[in-house]
Order: sequence, then structure tokens, then C-alpha cells
Amino acid sequence: MCTDLSDQTPAEAYISFGIETSAYQRQRMKVSASAAITLSIGLILGGCELLNDVTSPDPGSTDTIVFSSHIQPLFDTHCTGCHSGETADAGLRFDSWSNTMLGSKHGEAVIPYAAGHSLMIRLVTDLPGDPHPVNEGNEGLSAAEVALLERWIDEGALDDDGTVPFADSNDLLYVCNRDEASISVIDTKAKLVIRRLDLVKLGFTENAAPYDVVVEPGGEQWYVSLAGDNAVLKFSRANELVAQAAVTFPGLLALHPTNGILYAGRALNSAQAPASIVAIRRSDMFVDEIPVVFSRPHALAVRPQGDVVFSAGFDVDQLMAIQSGTSSVTFTPITGPLHSMGHFAISPDGNWMWGSGWASSLMTLFDISNPQAVQQRQSIPVAADPRQAAILPNSSALYISGNQDDVVTVVDFSSTQVRKVISGNGMSEPNGIAVTGDNRFVFVSNANTAGGYIPRYDFRDNDRTGTVVVIDTAIDEIVKVIEVGKRASGLGMKPGAIGF
Ligand code: HEC
Repeated sequence: MCTDLSDQTPAEAYISFGIETSAYQRQRMKVSASAAITLSIGLILGGCELLNDVTSPDPGSTDTIVFSSHIQPLFDTHCTGCHSGETADAGLRFDSWSNTMLGSKHGEAVIPYAAGHSLMIRLVTDLPGDPHPVNEGNEGLSAAEVALLERWIDEGALDDDGTVPFADSNDLLYVCNRDEASISVIDTKAKLVIRRLDLVKLGFTENAAPYDVVVEPGGEQWYVSLAGDNAVLKFSRANELVAQAAVTFPGLLALHPTNGILYAGRALNSAQAPASIVAIRRSDMFVDEIPVVFSRPHALAVRPQGDVVFSAGFDVDQLMAIQSGTSSVTFTPITGPLHSMGHFAISPDGNWMWGSGWASSLMTLFDISNPQAVQQRQSIPVAADPRQAAILPNSSALYISGNQDDVVTVVDFSSTQVRKVISGNGMSEPNGIAVTGDNRFVFVSNANTAGGYIPRYDFRDNDRTGTVVVIDTAIDEIVKVIEVGKRASGLGMKPGAIGF
């Protein structure tokens, strides 16, 4: 009877989405919700106490969880024997609130507002066989203690004074988990997942298929295209949905530097995608269509000067140069084998553009210094299915995700020679790619749809977990593997986010 408690704990009722600005409202909602739960858990615990099943404050006895009174004692009883000090197992310390938030040497233990996706909860409940720490030979947590931990995390994993972990994060990376309608938010400095935004909880479908993200320069707003739900959403920095636009099969996104427009190409999930680019006014999400003749315009980039937007047909190798602020498009045929340009990367000076040929496995260079007369230059062979490319802010190198070969190719920018081919644990169907403003780190999302990467813990439902690998550009090696959601795809970094 008592061991069934976890099944009866309506932890879902507390799940929120990292919407910090409405913390006050949520706090108020919580009070009434927890009153009801207090009652039910209290009643059940009444029977269990006789069996000495409860060792820590029971969640039924408190409306407000105070970290130092309710959570730290639970850690002290069950966890800090192994998880404290310099020699903590997995480098994970539960000896203070701030150490808990630093996570292990691998990643976060807690994702605020997302208990169900927090390793701390999954390890102590979902490991097949004896759940951790029982499988480490120690007494496990009671169902009531797990419920308390879950509640604390779902309420934001607050410190005693109400501090929300990473609420002030300035260095943010948003990763689309395409096959589970969610977005993982990573702090690029801490290199941890700090939020997990569930689109289904916001009313979108399981097939919403988030495709790409762009972030305003100041980070105050960010946008995501939902290829499955035919929408482009606008979020605040606090992850509140503020507006949306109806767009058929939206794909890659690009921000204009000055005129307030967000451009969207088309995703590839339908051959019927309209032959047009979408220009969305960011202030009110008003949608305008720019006809481009050729189907499925996929690659998309705005010249930093703001004068021209580039795209290309996916089915026909035509480069499109759209005069910004107008619907005037110039077409230039792209020569060579069928490339199917999937992605464009423009150098910071606006003079060069590299196009990823998803069909040709070639990277093709364009001289765009005079955008009215684009010159196609050389093509260089790279790993199969080059998805996306990112140029370091100092223009020293180009990093290209090679989806089929599970590698990232590094190309020296000025010599256009391949400098290194990076592979390793965590790299499995690499896709989206972004570089930090300090030139130090490259973040690469990995779809892992075939399960080439095996997650650290086997929860029986996570064998296709996507990753974000972090490459240190000083050594061009993978220095961290961050586990995110299923089919990690497009990603967007706050401009200038740093990795140190
Ligand atoms: C008897 C020692 C022991 C106790 C007690 C213990 N752990 Fe662990 N814990 C470990 C070890 C060892 C690892 C590393 C396991 C591995 O790498 O497979 C670990 C790993 C973890 C991880 C995963 C870290 C990562 O990123 O890989 C989490 C989360 C965790 N423990 C949570 C807890 C919690 C919560 C408690 C208390 C309720 C607890 N542990 C109690 C020994 C312990």
C-alpha cells in the first residue's frame, strides 16, 4: 500500500515550464493545488508512519518547501555520504544548493521545473532493478521523499530565498527536440541543460516538430519554427509564449539585423511546401510571403549588412538573392552536381558564403561581396550529408556537421583546406551547429535517431536520446556530451553568448 504512493502522487499537477515572470501567479496556484495534495498524501502517510516508512519531512506537512529545512536534510540522510566534497561520486555534490545546481562532471542533476526529466529523479525511481542509491547498497528514498523532491524541482528548485537556478543566465542555447515537441535550453557557460520547455503543455501537438530557433541579439526574445504544427512562435527570455504566426511548413529562420523582420524558409517534410519565403514582422508577427518560384527554399541567411537575404531551392539548384524590404528576387543557377543547398553560413564581414550541399556532400563557396553579382567559387568535398556550417566570429575556421558520417569537419577559413575531422562519443547524426562569441566552443546537436549514441543510464525509454556535443576549438576535440531530447535538430544561440 505504502509503496504505491508514488503512483498516487499527482506530480504532474505541479509541472510548469520555466516561466519565471509568472512565478508569482504559479505560487498562488500552487498553494491551492498543494492543499488538496497535502490532504491525500497526509492521509496515506498516516497509515505508513506506523511502518516507519517516513524518514524525512513528509511533503504533506508543508505548503512551502524550504530548501534548507526540507531538501538538504533529505540529501544529508541519503546522498551526501557519496555525493559531497572533492571526492564526490560522479563529481556530483549535494552538500549545498549551489553545488547541487552545478551538476556532475557529465551534466545537470536537476532541470528546474522539469522533475520528470531530471536525472536526480530518474535515477532514484526509474533505473531497472534497484533504483539508485539502493543499487549502491544504501537505503533508498521513500515514495513520500521522492514526491517531495519532485515537488521541489517542479516548483523551480528554489533556494531558501526564492532564487530560481539560472534565472539570470545570459549565455543561452535553445535546442529543438524534434521528435518530442520540446526545447532544451542550455547555459553555454555552465554547459548544462537549465530548462526544458514542453510544447505539448502549451497546447501544441506531439508532432509539432520544432525545427529551428533564432534569438534576438539582446536575448529578450527568441523564435522557433514548428514544421509539424505550421507555426512560428515568439517567446520571451523567460520562456513565455508571447505571440505566434501561422506559416505552412516553416523551416530555417534568420533575423534581419535592423528592419525588425524574421525570415523563414520551408522545412522538407512535405514536397508541397509553398515556393516562397516568409517575412514576419517581429513586433506583431504579421506574415508576408515573398514568391521565389523554386520549391522548398531551405538554406537561408541574411547578409550582416542587411541588404540581401539569401536562399536556395532544395530541388533545383538556384541561388536566390532577395532585396531586403522588397519582394525583388535575383536568381543565379548553382553549377556542378545536384547540391540541394540545405544551409548557408556567411562570414562576419559579409563577403563570403558557404553553402552545404546535402545531396552533393560538397561545401560550395560564394563570393557575395557584391550581392548583386554573386560569384560561385570552389567546392570542397567533406563528410557525407553536410548539414550545417558555422564560421567562428574571428573568421579563422568553418565547422561543418557531417550527418551521415557522424563527424564535424573543420576547414581553415583562408586556405579552405580541411584542418581536422572530429568524431567521438556523443556524435551521432550531427545536425545543428553554433559557435560561441568568444570563438572558444562549438555546440553541435545530434539527432541520434538510430541510437548510435548510448546514453549514460538505461531507463528503457531513452535509447534514442539526442545530444549536444561541445567542441573546444583550442584542441578541436569533444569536451562534453550533453544529453537532450529525441532527435535534437535545429538550434539557436543568443548572439555573443560565451562559453567560458
Ligand atoms: C553509496 C553511494 C551513493 C549514494 C548513497 C548515492 N549515490 Fe548517486 N551516485 C553514486 C555513484 C557511484 C554514481 C556514479 C554512477 C555511475 O557513474 O554509473 C552516482 C551518480 C548519481 C547521479 C548521476 C550523475 C551523473 O551525471 O552521471 C545522480 C543524479 C545521483 N547519483 C543522485 C543521487 C541521489 C539523489 C542520491 C540520494 C538520494 C544518491 N545519488 C545517493 C553513488 C551514490
